[in-house]
Amino acid sequence: MSEKANIIIFDTTLRDGEQSPGASMNIEEKLRIAHQLEKMNVDVIEAGFPIASEGDFEAVKRVAQAIKGPQIAGLCRANDMDIDRAWEALQYAGERGRIHTFIATSDIHMKHKLQMSEEQVLEAAVKAVRRAAGYTANVEFSAEDAVRTRLPFLAKVVEAVIDAGATTVNIPDTVGYTIPSEYFNIIKYLKDNVPNVEKAVLSVHCHNDLGLAVANSLAAIQAGAGQVECTINGIGERAGNCSLEEVVMTLRTRHDIMPFGTNVVTEHIYAASKLLSTITGIVVQPNKAIVGANAFAHEAGIHQHGVLMEKSTYEIMTPESIGLNQNKLVLGKHSGRHAFTQRLTELGYDLNKEDTNKAFVRFKALADAKKEIFDEDLDAIVADEIIRVPETYKLMQMNVSSGSFAAPTATVELEVEGKVKKVALIGDGPVDATFKAIKKLAGSKARLLNFSVGAITGGTDAQGECTVRLELDGREVLGQGAHPDIIVASAKAYINALNKIASKQKRTTVSL
Ligand code: KIV
Ligand code: ZN
Repeated sequence: MSEKANIIIFDTTLRDGEQSPGASMNIEEKLRIAHQLEKMNVDVIEAGFPIASEGDFEAVKRVAQAIKGPQIAGLCRANDMDIDRAWEALQYAGERGRIHTFIATSDIHMKHKLQMSEEQVLEAAVKAVRRAAGYTANVEFSAEDAVRTRLPFLAKVVEAVIDAGATTVNIPDTVGYTIPSEYFNIIKYLKDNVPNVEKAVLSVHCHNDLGLAVANSLAAIQAGAGQVECTINGIGERAGNCSLEEVVMTLRTRHDIMPFGTNVVTEHIYAASKLLSTITGIVVQPNKAIVGANAFAHEAGIHQHGVLMEKSTYEIMTPESIGLNQNKLVLGKHSGRHAFTQRLTELGYDLNKEDTNKAFVRFKALADAKKEIFDEDLDAIVADEIIRVPETYKLMQMNVSSGSFAAPTATVELEVEGKVKKVALIGDGPVDATFKAIKKLAGSKARLLNFSVGAITGGTDAQGECTVRLELDGREVLGQGAHPDIIVASAKAYINALNKIASKQKRTTVSL
């Protein structure tokens, strides 16, 4: 088969991905992800929805200012105010700025959500694209819920927006409803029935409600789609979006029957996945394709034997192709600053001198307590020491007593907005006592939804890694903390979640 065109990889981790429950990121965190996406060489980064909040506007603006390679997209509804606000943030990317405007086209959305007729929606779509085209030649239009749209009407909208200046037209499966053969036929129908279709790139955007987002996106590529919208680790609204790593690695691995290229430097995929889960606290399931902890682990003896004899017996792609270093033991007590910094860079962290120093001090302390330091330990150090939300609450010291006959008691000293406060409380267990003490000192009404403890690596000297999910006023946040003492790790996770709530309270949002 002859080589076909490159597929444009449009990453929406910072926009649709951020709509995952508990995945909201602050501006610094978004910039870190954006730099990793730049390193990975994705073609387009959708940085946010500028009119949604001041925070979103600022994030899109900062990403547009900082990122040099990829195009930067900002989402907006099909109205003048949204479009103007989007360009206000995107202008800093110059010609690489892309206005992404959308309106729903399915009967169900037009009737119940928009209360608009087909004619009104068509008119609004064209008007929006014209306005966007007045700012930039790089305009994307999305027909929200395209999959449940009457095909002749969808074709009419696609034709009209291309005439109005859209250079990319997206056909989203907003509710994750389609299956590969149906989606193939929709794209093929548009290719065959829209007279000016070759003047724009057809894009696909799949949600994963039926677990088919990747399969649907691949089917659409085979039908002629030129752009895939996806997210790292497949995070996104509800069951998530199409996973970037799965689509890109499928195209790389099955080039024999899908001869399409991408510009993605796949060796940066693993670092991107780790960085995102570290920042959001959303852990990747162990059996997740490509980036899960077990994705390259061969448990069965017969498989291990085969892989030792010849890797290709059971390995369809190499761990190195996604940047996974199988030689996981990296550093120890005697490792110097140079080896430490180099390993952090290999893991995808780009720290300034001050942050490197902070992380190095923490690394040395950990190396004293623990013989072997693994990549996961370094991720935890960076997560804990560097990737922080502003600290409204800061753990100063704590002491916990528990056992089989004493009432578990936690004494906690917390800095709350610059003031040091201390309390001792009894709980049902050491973690419960600790959480009660912190909650009291912080004066928080947040509800604990979930608490989990894991060991970052193997061995009794492993660091404990705790995740805490809190809810306040209908909003959920995840907090994480790591420490060789799991009660301290739990306290850090709880405080991290409270800090996220505090920083979120400073942001007001408008939802889609
Ligand atoms: O799922 C969807 O339809 C979207 C659009 C706004 C592109 O996210
Ligand atoms: Zn979406």
